Amino acid sequence: MYNETVMEHFQNPRNTGEIENADGIGKVGNPNCGDVMMMYIKIEDGKIADLKYKTFGCAAAIATSSVASEILIGKTIEEAEQLSKMDIVEVLNGLPEAKIACSTIAPDAIRAAIEDYRLKANS
Ligand code: FES
Repeated sequence: MYNETVMEHFQNPRNTGEIENADGIGKVGNPNCGDVMMMYIKIEDGKIADLKYKTFGCAAAIATSSVASEILIGKTIEEAEQLSKMDIVEVLNGLPEAKIACSTIAPDAIRAAIEDYRLKANS
């Protein structure tokens, strides 16, 4: 069902975990299945200096979280906000049609984490 790239990221997800004193935290859920992702970011000079996450979800959710973390580290906040599910699906060389919706969890989480960062920075 899944290609080799997806399986590799699912079995060896990159950048998992939590950041203590994160600058922003995003917690999102997929309303269709109840899967949840927590994303932690560190911002330095307007860029994502570090990012970790915990994804409680299906194989596609975990693989897309892993790829998203690799894409996002080093990006500016503005670039990170533009991340789309299809950017992730492309790096994974595709996902089964029924699993494409699972790849929205990471883009939603990074936007939530950035929103949290902005709220904290302005308070
Ligand atoms: Fe929930 Fe894939 S089934 S994110």
